[in-house]
Amino acid sequence: MVYIWEPGVNKVREEILSALRDAGGVVSGQRLCEDFGVSRAAISKHVRELRKLGYEIESVPRLGHRLVSSTDLPIEIEVSRYLKTSTIGRHYVFEKEMPSTNSFLGNLAVSKCHDGMVVVADRQTGGRGRMQRTWHSPAGVNLYFSVLLQPPKSPSEIPELALVAAWAVVRAMNAVAPTVDAGVKWPNDVLVGGLKLAGILCEMQAETDVIHKVILGIGLNVNLTRKQVPADLRRRATSLRMETGDVLSRPRVMGEILNSLEKGYRRWLKDGLGSFLPELEERSVLTGKKVRVKTFGKRIEGVVAGMSADGGLVLKEGRKKRTVYSGEVTLVRPRAG
Ligand code: BTN
Repeated sequence: MVYIWEPGVNKVREEILSALRDAGGVVSGQRLCEDFGVSRAAISKHVRELRKLGYEIESVPRLGHRLVSSTDLPIEIEVSRYLKTSTIGRHYVFEKEMPSTNSFLGNLAVSKCHDGMVVVADRQTGGRGRMQRTWHSPAGVNLYFSVLLQPPKSPSEIPELALVAAWAVVRAMNAVAPTVDAGVKWPNDVLVGGLKLAGILCEMQAETDVIHKVILGIGLNVNLTRKQVPADLRRRATSLRMETGDVLSRPRVMGEILNSLEKGYRRWLKDGLGSFLPELEERSVLTGKKVRVKTFGKRIEGVVAGMSADGGLVLKEGRKKRTVYSGEVTLVRPRAG
């Protein structure tokens, strides 16, 4: 079953929810009927639908309805309570389940795309990572979303956006979970203590000189517990809950990321990636580390000296400096003895 909350389409439902939230106590069915000009049966139907979305609503016979708790689903009406953006997240699609939010936007006709459109799923059945990997996407615990962007830039600049997104996620983490020491791992990861907290998949549809769509997909482990992590990922993945011991509100975390992403995106359009370098390098988990980069079938080793203003990783090999623009980075551990 798929639930889509389209604002306006479910206007009465939104208004009932606001009325219950504002009242902070029981609201009589009669008052809801009068205020929204609908029958008792319609009110009951809306209340049932809200419950299906995860709102806990108590119905007291002869007295009315009371909102006990809100849903944790990252649906628009919840996320928008935290949103301070002007474009990102202002067109919003939520589905309980879909194969992949990146694929959804990839398949969407360009005529139906809006700059800043966000697609979110509570669960992905075919979540994708870089290098054709899968992205573990169970229901009810994490965030899986994609943002559609149409920047007036050249296609060659687009990989920089993965770093802008990583910067935005780290900044949002400082707001929602300040004790979590999140860092950026070039080119697209957010790590905590060497374990993966979030991954970014930046895809593009373009001609040589015109961009049709950039799809920035973000997967963030929010309330995932250690037990829910598949055995083969247990030594590599973490979540905000595993790091803090707290269950966080997914709508709030999502809102903070979208706010931070819009700030970063605007800055990138105006000042370029160069303006992020001091912060990115400060938050980089690779700076000063000896690494091996697998890039286009070659293996390059060196000590990470920083990042370049066009999104590359700068390696020092003896006295030589070399910049790589894509690849898989692993730390080279010094041999014992
Ligand atoms: C990686 O670390 O390799 C990138 C992972 C990106 C996962 C996100 S989840 C939302 C969006 N939809 C997908 O299928 N993938 C991205």
